[in-house]
Order: sequence, then C-alpha cells, then structure tokens
Amino acid sequence: MPHTYDHGGNVFSISRQMGIAPEELIDFSASINPLGISPLVRKSLICALDSLTHYPDSTHLPLKQALARHHGLKPANFIIGNGSTEIIYHMPVMLPGKRALIISPSFSEYVRALGQQHWEARHFILSPENGFSIDTDRLKLELSTGYDALYLCNPGNPGGTLYPLRVIEQIYSICLAAGTFLVLDEAFMDFCEDASAKQFIIHSDNGIILRSMTKFFGIPGLRLGYAIASPTIAERLDAMGGPWSVNTLALEAGVAALQDQDHNRRTIEFIRQERRGIYEQLDRFPALKPYPSSANFLLVELTGGMTAHELKERLVAMRMLIRDCSSFMGLTRHFFRIAVRTSQENHRLLEGLRRILK
Ligand SMILES: Cc1ncc(COP(=O)(O)O)c(C=O)c1O
Repeated sequence: MPHTYDHGGNVFSISRQMGIAPEELIDFSASINPLGISPLVRKSLICALDSLTHYPDSTHLPLKQALARHHGLKPANFIIGNGSTEIIYHMPVMLPGKRALIISPSFSEYVRALGQQHWEARHFILSPENGFSIDTDRLKLELSTGYDALYLCNPGNPGGTLYPLRVIEQIYSICLAAGTFLVLDEAFMDFCEDASAKQFIIHSDNGIILRSMTKFFGIPGLRLGYAIASPTIAERLDAMGGPWSVNTLALEAGVAALQDQDHNRRTIEFIRQERRGIYEQLDRFPALKPYPSSANFLLVELTGGMTAHELKERLVAMRMLIRDCSSFMGLTRHFFRIAVRTSQENHRLLEGLRRILK
C-alpha cells in the first residue's frame, strides 16, 4: 500500500474513485488562488520549455534577486525549495537539538519531518473558543522547560488567525531568551504582507521564515517555496539537499509570478471581498460557526451535532471537496475548512450546505 497523506487537494485520487474527470470536482479542500495562474506565468512556462534540455540553474540567482526586490531584502536572505515542504523537511536536519514545540492546530508536515529525524514534537494547543489567541506567559513558561525549536504558522492554518507583528516580536524575544529557534511559517502571508516578520528575522541567527509560492500564485502542482533568513542561516540551509530539486519551469514561473503585480493586487482584493461575502453567508446558518480569517480559507465549526466527515461525504456526492479538520491536533470532529473560491463556486457550496443543513 502506498503511504497516504492527510491533506486536502486530493482531486486526482477522488475523481479516479468516482470515475469522473478531476475538472468535474470543485476543490475547496486546498487553499489555492481561484483566479489561477497569472498570464505572465503561463507565458514564462511556455518560453522555458526549450531550456529543459539543460540542468536547472542550481544557484537560483534570478529568483533570489526577484524575491529580494519584491521584499526589499538581499538575495543572500533567500533559500529556494521545491515547495516550502522541502524546506520543512530540511529544518530538523539543519537545526541542532531534538525537542520541538508546535503551536497547534497546525500543518501536519512539521511533525512528520521532525519524526523522521527522531525529534520529540510536543504541541502547544490553542483553543478555538479563545479565537486561537496565544497566551505568551503560558508559552514562556512552557519554553523554559527546554525546547530547541518552536514552530508557529502566521496566519494560522487551519484557523486563519493573523497574529500582529508585535505578538510575533514578543514570541521571538521569548525564543531568544529561552535559546529556542523560531520556525515561522508564513505560507499564506502574501494575502496580508504588512504583517510579515521578514524585516526583523534576518538580523539574527535564531529564526527563519518559510514562504510558499504554491497557494497565492496558484502553482501547487509545479512546487515552489522559499525561506527568508540571515545570510548565515540561508547559507547553512542552502547546503542541504541536492542541487536540482527546484526545476527550471518552477524557477521561471517564480520570477514571472512576482512581476505580475496587477494579477497579484487583483488576487488580494478578490479574496478579501469573496471571503467577507462567504463569511457573512456562513454566519447566517444556525448550525455553522465560521472563524475570522486573514488568508484565502475559512475554518468552520458544525454546531448542530453533524461531523465534518459526514458533511464531507454529503458534499463529495455533490462533487465538492472540503477539508475535514478532525485530524488537526486540538480540533474536534466538527471542524472543516473551505478555500475561498470564485463567487459562482462559493454560491454552489452555500447552496449545497443549505440543502444538507436545512
Ligand atoms: C501552513 C502550511 N505551510 C506549508 C505548506 C506547504 O506548502 P508548499 O509545499 O506547497 O509550498 C502548506 C500546504 O498546505 C501549509 O498549509
């Protein structure tokens, strides 16, 4: 049996099981830009086809330069990966130590990656009732028991909570004092860039920011991500893995994606509007409690007794996929996550929910 991963976005295997084409499913289970690939990216992919006869540029320099311009940092502050997941797997290899604390509920790959390197992973659980807020005094106390790394996702996934920069700065100081390395996952930060901790993380060797290019830029199938860190940390991380894990098409697409500012601005505005609309609609259901989100997805709680698994099955029959969140540490069987998609698709989901929850 091949290993199965507990994630959203399984359109290929589910459509195969259902005997339908993947395009017949609407995927709310993976949080990907509903506007799709930017025209500039599409063009760059076609133009790059002929250079597939060469090995990829293992220096990643043009993309590092483009990222440096985009973020107002230096190329030496960046490391490129085959999706941010590749970098997540390199972290426990690069970091000294063996004990990590994960602010949860959160992305399950941190635990898998830590486990493969025989780290002990513990969870610092945030509760939905408190809006996933972080009690920094409690965190300080926990870190004082001795952790080598702290994993925090901002905005959180699946909660969608955005922690303001001052909270991240406070957590970073707690980490510095406790001798704990901060792994800050900003996979969805492109939707709210002002809250990024990129300007201060680069000034010390005690933290790193992970960024994904697959969600905001809509290329999960191509795989592209990066990390932001001090030049010292960046150099150490760059030495991990092999030379060609990031392919030529992904490298070219990354540069083009950053250039297409129109598409990127439109994406931010579109998501903001659609998210507000769908949140308001969901909030009107007596049996649903949506949580406020700063990303392109919404966490929703079923308050009338139905489980997320049951809802998922009912929606699959209507050819819509949602993420059952019961596998997330700290959440019950009554939580699900939906991606914000186009107005038409969001309406179809709301209509499906009305029929099921009537
Ligand atoms: C919080 C978070 N971080 C990282 C990732 C990995 O993204 P990728 O490897 O596609 O860049 C995901 C994917 O769902 C995620 O939700």
